[in-house]
Amino acid sequence: MVSSCSSSMSFVVVAYLLVVLVGSSNAQLTPNFYSSSCPSLDSTVKSVVHSAISKEARMGASLLRLFFHDCFVNGCDGSLLLDDTPNFTGEKMARPNNGSVRGFEVIDQIKSAVENVCPGVVSCADILAITARDSVVILGGPSWNVKLGRRDARTASQSDANNDIPRPTFNLGQLISSFQNQGLSANDMVALSGAHTIGQARCTSFRDHIYNDTNIDASFAQSRRANCPRTSGMGDNNLAPLDLQTPTCFDNDYYKNIINQKGLLHSDQQLLSNALVQTYGGNLGRFYSDFATSMIKMGDIKPLTGSNGEIRKNCRMIN
Ligand code: HEM
Ligand SMILES: *[C@@H]1O[C@H](CO)[C@@H](O)[C@H](O)[C@H]1NC(C)=O
Ligand SMILES: *[C@@H]1O[C@H](CO)[C@@H](O)[C@H](O)[C@H]1NC(C)=O
Ligand SMILES: *[C@@H]1O[C@H](CO)[C@@H](O)[C@H](O)[C@H]1NC(C)=O
Repeated sequence: MVSSCSSSMSFVVVAYLLVVLVGSSNAQLTPNFYSSSCPSLDSTVKSVVHSAISKEARMGASLLRLFFHDCFVNGCDGSLLLDDTPNFTGEKMARPNNGSVRGFEVIDQIKSAVENVCPGVVSCADILAITARDSVVILGGPSWNVKLGRRDARTASQSDANNDIPRPTFNLGQLISSFQNQGLSANDMVALSGAHTIGQARCTSFRDHIYNDTNIDASFAQSRRANCPRTSGMGDNNLAPLDLQTPTCFDNDYYKNIINQKGLLHSDQQLLSNALVQTYGGNLGRFYSDFATSMIKMGDIKPLTGSNGEIRKNCRMIN
């Protein structure tokens, strides 16, 4: 085990697995898509994810976020992974991504390990989906059966990345609409936001919340200000944990923090009025179960299937 999370969690994971196996809507994706074309896919991906998280526990959070930022921009199609070139503008430089999303080298390592065992078979979009699940499991969270069969986009959209990925300045209504635009409900939004139980944010993402908002615990705001100066500039990239207690454990502290007015982002603290925050803060199993279900739903957003798109050879460029 990489994580130092409490071991009682594995019981909860097993208890709720059955719930998660009940599939959802996208009929074209299926968990056994590669079972004959790439039987060692799961173990190949998992071993690279495991070693990356062993080197740096935060990487699990970064890899989970990649899947979210891919899926919310014209579907889970690997578009986020395309590098900019002189004649191609991808999504990496979009405002929510630039200087913030990370883990592309790990995706490259996974892709090359997968190409070694099953050349030309597995999409980068599917690698992101499996990697997100493995990261959550390795950090002590729930597991689920990842639906597969996505193909990779030959296009990307920086402007859609700017418009479609929700911002930390959003209020509750804006957060709900940004998820509804993707076919996800307010409940999905609250469950998926629990991903902020792991990982880090830059000062620039939470500065206004700790200096200007009043719905924040005063001593928490004070302690965050120590490493995030009011004036933008030098301190912009200083990091703070999204979950102040256990940023490398996939637990339900995120919701407990919101209840205690210790959400790091303005957008996190906005969730307080949703009843599910109380539910998840008091019921780890319920959070795990709903998180897994909503991750499967997020993974169903507009996949390319059949003969659409391609199976990229290198996740950073179209074939
Ligand atoms: C509800 C709307 C959401 C907003 C407004 C939001 C916003 C943010 C922001 C501003 C950061 C910090 C970025 C930085 O400062 O560099 C962040 C980090 C993160 N987000 Fe979200 N996010 C949302 C939903 C999600 C969802 C649905 C997931 C995954 C299922 C997710 C996973 C993460 C993770 C794991 C990190 C930490 C990444 C790392 O440490 O590298 N977020 N998010
Ligand atoms: C883009 O530019 C590269 C050289 O930087 C060239 O090899 C490639 O053919 C160009 N692609 C398109 C679609 O124009
Ligand atoms: C991306 O970030 C870098 C440094 O953080 C900055 O110099 C650059 O202008 C940004 N690019 C865009 C397109 O905003
Ligand atoms: C807080 O609000 C003031 C007044 O609206 C604004 O000038 C300032 O930029 C905001 N942010 C911070 C970090 O003080």
